[in-house]
Amino acid sequence: MCGIVGYTGAHEAAPVLVAGLRRLEYRGYDSAGLATLDRDRLTVRKRAGRVRALEELLESESAPGRCGISHTRWATHGPANDRNAHPHLGGRGGAIRVAVVHNGVIENHAALRRELESQGFEFHSQTDTEVIAHLIARELETTDDLFEAVQRAMPRLEGTYGLGVISPSRPGEVVGARFGSPLVVGLGEGEHLLASDPVAIAPHTAQVAFLQDGEVVRLTPHDFEMRHLEHGPITPRIDRLDWKPDAVELGGHAHYMIKEIREQPETIVNTCRGRLRRSEATAVFGGLNLSPRQLRRVRRVVFAACGTSWHAALVGEYLIERLADLPVEVEYASEFRYRNAPLDDRTLVFVLSQSGETADTLGALREAKRRGHPTLAIVNTVGSTIAREADGGIYLHAGPEVGVASTKAFSAQVAVLTLLALYLGRLRHLSFPDGLAVIDAIEQVPALLGEVLKTEPLIEEAAGRIASAHSALYLGRDLHYPVALEGALKLKEISYIHAEGYPTAEMKHGPIALVDRHTPCIFVVPRGSLHAKTLSNLEEVRARDGLVISVGTEDDQAVAGLSQVFLPIPEAPEVVQPLLAVVPLQLLAYHVARQRGCDIDKPRNLAKSVTVE
Ligand code: M6R
Repeated sequence: MCGIVGYTGAHEAAPVLVAGLRRLEYRGYDSAGLATLDRDRLTVRKRAGRVRALEELLESESAPGRCGISHTRWATHGPANDRNAHPHLGGRGGAIRVAVVHNGVIENHAALRRELESQGFEFHSQTDTEVIAHLIARELETTDDLFEAVQRAMPRLEGTYGLGVISPSRPGEVVGARFGSPLVVGLGEGEHLLASDPVAIAPHTAQVAFLQDGEVVRLTPHDFEMRHLEHGPITPRIDRLDWKPDAVELGGHAHYMIKEIREQPETIVNTCRGRLRRSEATAVFGGLNLSPRQLRRVRRVVFAACGTSWHAALVGEYLIERLADLPVEVEYASEFRYRNAPLDDRTLVFVLSQSGETADTLGALREAKRRGHPTLAIVNTVGSTIAREADGGIYLHAGPEVGVASTKAFSAQVAVLTLLALYLGRLRHLSFPDGLAVIDAIEQVPALLGEVLKTEPLIEEAAGRIASAHSALYLGRDLHYPVALEGALKLKEISYIHAEGYPTAEMKHGPIALVDRHTPCIFVVPRGSLHAKTLSNLEEVRARDGLVISVGTEDDQAVAGLSQVFLPIPEAPEVVQPLLAVVPLQLLAYHVARQRGCDIDKPRNLAKSVTVE
């Protein structure tokens, strides 16, 4: 999806802008461009293709100036070519008054285009964005205040936008505006930045202010000013990114995905820090904004989420029902928002989202709020739209997740849900010793994950057995069923091998028809309550000449004996087994994709944050 970076400060803008675009590359794009201002001299450089192509262009044709905007485009209106790449310019009669970069979709662009053409504005691209540039330019004919001109143009736009705007009449000034597409301001020393994702600007500053819908910001090197279109001037909330300076660097890893898989022991430590209270055998959360009394009244929990977050929610369902004896339903956010799901006044609605910007999940949250329900969010990105709009919630503290294939965020979500199950359980019938046992189990996880990660060479070898497969089945029971779903999603996302996850016992009701020697069956079967019942399913696959790969407890001879490939995880209490069992599946997907030569951090057709319906 498109990315925006803007800069004004003491340094040359172009290198800062290009480095920012590089950090957004993982989001997927097909062209890149920038515009800079050197006093009132505007320079535009853009290219279809990778950011590297833009860098090559800049080597021969520089873009001087200490102020600028840049963009990576993911084509919607008009094909990916140099002409349609952003920035787009606005003005008529040969006067260029403004350069604009835009994320989002302008739904009324055709009508606006006709109107502007009839007034002498010429169009040079097929994009919807060019109407924004001309609308702002038209306002700049009657005011020289860019901030004002953007605010006058905004009400004409229908659809979604995050904007970065500069004008030769306002050297050193960058204006940003948001409606539906994320935008964040970075507050540095003698410099200010604008971005669609804090990842782009994190190396410059940890102080950020997230724009909300209808807000517009003016940045100069030493100052920034924010207004809401209807409510006037606002004092923004400044958030602090609790990221290490190198959090968005590869740091010697071949891909972000493998870096983030390997970070998981530390992720769990960070997610659980300060949230375990041994003296009461429970968990504590700062931001739920609901008292124990209110939470005890809850009779039902609904989780709404998408993709990997939906899988984490399913683990949460099993855990909360097991530890807190509370009915849980897990909904696809995209379905929930339009479905007439009955919710009574004792239903608590949670949404889960790594990015906090997923349009479907945000829609589900807004629908639940509209119906008057208290809404809570489990989110990774501090200050994101979902985090702000929910009535309360829990941050994952997993640090920035750059890999499109979510890994450490899943683990952090499952860890939070384990703590939530403990907390809700202790508000109900879960005994003190049983609560302590959960705490003991969680505290072991980082060290046990370290053990799992040591098996990577074995997993890399196993990947060779499925790298040429066309299809794979992932099977797990109880808490491991969602883990199987997540393993299958990881494989299909980055290696493009078709994969399906099923509850193990469901296999005999249909999927078993697929089993032959070309179809790997990956069983998630650590020792636990349903372990014995799964062994017969392994036998069934063996009997049909299928390839059995299993993730099991390290000394489990029964499972190992039935498997062609056995991937061990350490012995651990059942409630934390999903946190361990998912890691071999993440590593398996990674190494299969690597062996198939796939672009792991930029998988085809996918975006890290899906901000469209
Ligand atoms: O940011 P979110 O957690 O709301 O994202 C939800 C899904 O789009 C996301 O989990 C997606 O399925 C990932 N690519 C999974 O790896």
